[in-house]
Formats: sequence, C-alpha cells, structure tokens
Amino acid sequence: MSERVSWVPEGLDTGKPSAARLYDYLLGGGHNFAADRALAEKFLQAQPNARTIARLNRAFLRRAVLFMMDQGIRQFLDLGSGIPTVGNVHEIAQKADPEAHVVYVDFEEVAVAHSQLILEEDPRATIIQEDMTKPQAVLKAAEESGLIDFAQPVGVLTVGVFHFVPPEADPHAVLAAYRDAVPDGSYLAFSQFTQDLQPEEMAGIVEVMKKSQNPMFPRTKSEIAGLFDGFDVVEPGIVPLPLWRPEGQNVDDPDKAGIYAAVGRKV
Ligand SMILES: C[S@@+](CC[C@H](N)C(=O)[O-])C[C@H]1O[C@@H](n2cnc3c(N)ncnc32)[C@H](O)[C@@H]1O
Repeated sequence: MSERVSWVPEGLDTGKPSAARLYDYLLGGGHNFAADRALAEKFLQAQPNARTIARLNRAFLRRAVLFMMDQGIRQFLDLGSGIPTVGNVHEIAQKADPEAHVVYVDFEEVAVAHSQLILEEDPRATIIQEDMTKPQAVLKAAEESGLIDFAQPVGVLTVGVFHFVPPEADPHAVLAAYRDAVPDGSYLAFSQFTQDLQPEEMAGIVEVMKKSQNPMFPRTKSEIAGLFDGFDVVEPGIVPLPLWRPEGQNVDDPDKAGIYAAVGRKV
C-alpha cells in the first residue's frame, strides 16, 4: 500500500507542470514530478545556464534579506515564495534575529503544503495561499496573520516572480498597492528575467513556457525601473543578478544570469 507523501496535496494534477516545481527541480530539490522535469529539460535546452541562474537568484535573495536586516527591517512579505529549499527567508532572517517575522505568499499547492509543513513549529512565520497580483487579498490575509505590523517598515520581496505577471495584470498597479500599504523606510527586493541579457535564450524560454500554466513575460531595464516608482533604487541599481552587492563570487559573464536584480527603499 502506498502512503501519500505529506507535501503532495490531495487532488493535485501532477501531470500539469508548475513553475514552482520546475524551479525546485533546477535547484536540485525533490518536490517535483515527471511532467515538471520534462518541462524543465526543455527549459534547459533553451537556456543551458538555467541551474546556475536559479542558484544566483537564491543567492541574491539571501543578500537582499541580509541587506534589509542591516537597514533595520524585521518583518518580510515574500511574494511568490516558492517551494521551501535551502536558505528560506525566515531561516536567513531569524538566524540574524530570532524575532524576525515572515509571511510567505504563493498560489501553488505544493509550495503551500510544503511551507505549511516546515513552518508548523515557527510562530513567527506563515504561508498564505493567494495570487500575489491581488494585493488587497494578500494584504488583508497578511494583516490577519498578526505577523506584519503595517505601521513599521516591511521588507517586500518579489524575487523571481514578476516574469510570471502578464501586462494585463498591470504590474505597476500591483507593486504600487504593496508600496502604498507599507510605511516610508520599507524596502522592495525584486528580480525578474529580461530580454536585455541573452535575448535568444530568453525568447526560447518564453516559447517553452508559453502553453504552460505559468507563461513568462521578460521586461527591459527601463520597464523594471518604472516598477520602482516611489522607491529609491539603492546602489548598484538594476543589475544582472551576480552584480548586486556581490560577496566575492566570481562570475565569468554576469549577462549569462539572464535576470535583473534590484532593491529599492520607499521614500
Ligand atoms: C521561480 S519561483 C521563485 C521562488 C523564490 N521567490 C525564489 O526567488 O527563490 C516563482 C514562484 O512564484 C510563484 N508565483 C508565480 N506567480 C504567482 C502569483 N501570481 N501569485 C503567487 N505566487 C506566484 C510560483 O508558484 C513559484 O513558486
């Protein structure tokens, strides 16, 4: 008799690949199914550097959280948080300050189920299953969690997720709603795929993901700059992932990162 694994939600259609599980596979995780791996292999054909890009993205997430901690941030809203893997936001933040609070948000069932499992014993972190392009619903649930005090600065993270937000979801308005809900001195950490770097590979990825449940929308540097409306982008600005305040990693060609990263302070 087979036992249902606790991170596999009941009724999940495992034949339908998801971006969360594809990313988990790229990172070497075990929370993915054959359909996710098949899509990931196509993704890797289009962008052979995808595993490195995923790791560089996680490394940026870590540096951004530590940077925000240095600026005094002690509560984080992680939008599109993904399937927990090594170095989750609550682990990074609570290592620096055990009192740090984290609210994760994802709409993917496996990401939510596995997050619930690993957060069971942590009263300072939770996961909300919600579409992050619906800021009012997310903000209401975050408020109700009791873990975010919206009178105090918040570290908002949209790392590796905005390339899943289509133009018709009005990305500018989505970010503006989060910006308007947090006080001055809050931070936004952002990373997303761009066609400015490695355009051929980017076009290939867009094609591979087109018919999936997570089509992708790369953005130019100036489009991303527009999303930081109301934030002062901190040095070094909007740069390829590994160039954002590096900790000595040696990356032969930063453009191969395919993703821009930036952090802004609400003013
Ligand atoms: C590539 S993963 C990034 C995970 C993590 N933020 C990181 O950078 O390591 C993108 C995640 O965003 C989630 N996602 C995409 N669109 C979303 C949306 N509209 N609302 C909530 N989550 C979303 C996916 O389910 C996936 O788990």
